[in-house]
Amino acid sequence: METIFSGIQPSGIPTIGNYIGAMKQFIALQENYDCYYCIVDEHAITVPQDRIKLREQIRGLTALYLAVGLDPAKSTIFIQSEVPAHTQAAWIVQCNISLGELERMTQFKDKSAKSNRAGVSAGLLTYPPLMVADIILYQSNFVPVGEDQKQHLELTRDFVDRFNNKYGNGNQVLTLPEVKIPKFGGRIMSLQEPTKKMSKSDDNQKGFISMLDDPASIRKKIKSAVTDSSGVIEFDVENKPGISNLLTIYSAFSGETIESITPRYEGVGYGKFKEDLAEAVIAVMEPIQERYYALLKSDELDEILDAGAKHANAVANKTLKKMQNAVGLGRKR
Ligand code: TYM
Repeated sequence: METIFSGIQPSGIPTIGNYIGAMKQFIALQENYDCYYCIVDEHAITVPQDRIKLREQIRGLTALYLAVGLDPAKSTIFIQSEVPAHTQAAWIVQCNISLGELERMTQFKDKSAKSNRAGVSAGLLTYPPLMVADIILYQSNFVPVGEDQKQHLELTRDFVDRFNNKYGNGNQVLTLPEVKIPKFGGRIMSLQEPTKKMSKSDDNQKGFISMLDDPASIRKKIKSAVTDSSGVIEFDVENKPGISNLLTIYSAFSGETIESITPRYEGVGYGKFKEDLAEAVIAVMEPIQERYYALLKSDELDEILDAGAKHANAVANKTLKKMQNAVGLGRKR
């Protein structure tokens, strides 16, 4: 069976962008692949976090993974910091990736440009090698992510090729992973600035819908989403980014194609369209939220995370040993 790895940062409450771009794929893939879904808490601390909130968000993300439909019988669900091999492998990765490669990463450039570059953590720069480590430790074949992670996946592939050539002695020590980005919904945009990615860390609360927003907030945020003045509902990302984004969200939540949605709204205007869109989002999110709040109170979460960490440690340590042997670290084991 081929292997899938992906992760989400517990750096806030996930948005419907995370749901459409990542989680929906996770659920579909667990039927036919050996899946590892990680709560990447070590990635989250590359920027400052409140320790109490971080702990809550780690638990919350675990509950959300289960609430959307991840099944611990089919997928390994675990916390990154409970599998030390991730940071150990990341060190080997860092020593085989150049400073120039890391400085070229757009996410680093964007995030470090927002503050004083010399003052951001070194972890923000070495974040992609940790992500490379996450992926290679499970010899992953596919990595389901949104579009913003594409460059990190290209770096992972470059690293794997380089590592196998340099240390493999003709053998493929590490598996070359492929990125899996959804055809539609790989980049859900902000509801307020539809040319900017929807993000859980946006200062403008109206720009994103969190997966725990109640129905009233969902209706309100969609109602105030930025569109345009033409009143015509059509998919045209270039000229109508707001409406095109809403159509993508509509399609992702209703399961209908965009071509089947648009004719229903000919001559109807944006008001009715937005009302129906809000109901489509609520219809999916309400049952997820109910399961989420029930799971948060149960002991089940710890049992699932314990079992997940045990299995992940066994698999990851095996690959780590292979890497250490290939590089020549320690004694041969
Ligand atoms: P993170 O936590 O920012 O986002 C989690 C996943 O959601 C996707 N995503 C989106 N998809 C569509 N539209 C959006 N507006 C949107 N915003 C976020 C992201 O692409 C991602 O798939 N570095 C990763 C976490 C990570 C990881 C990994 C992923 C760490 N190690 C190994 C895959 C494999 C991140 O920050 O995701």
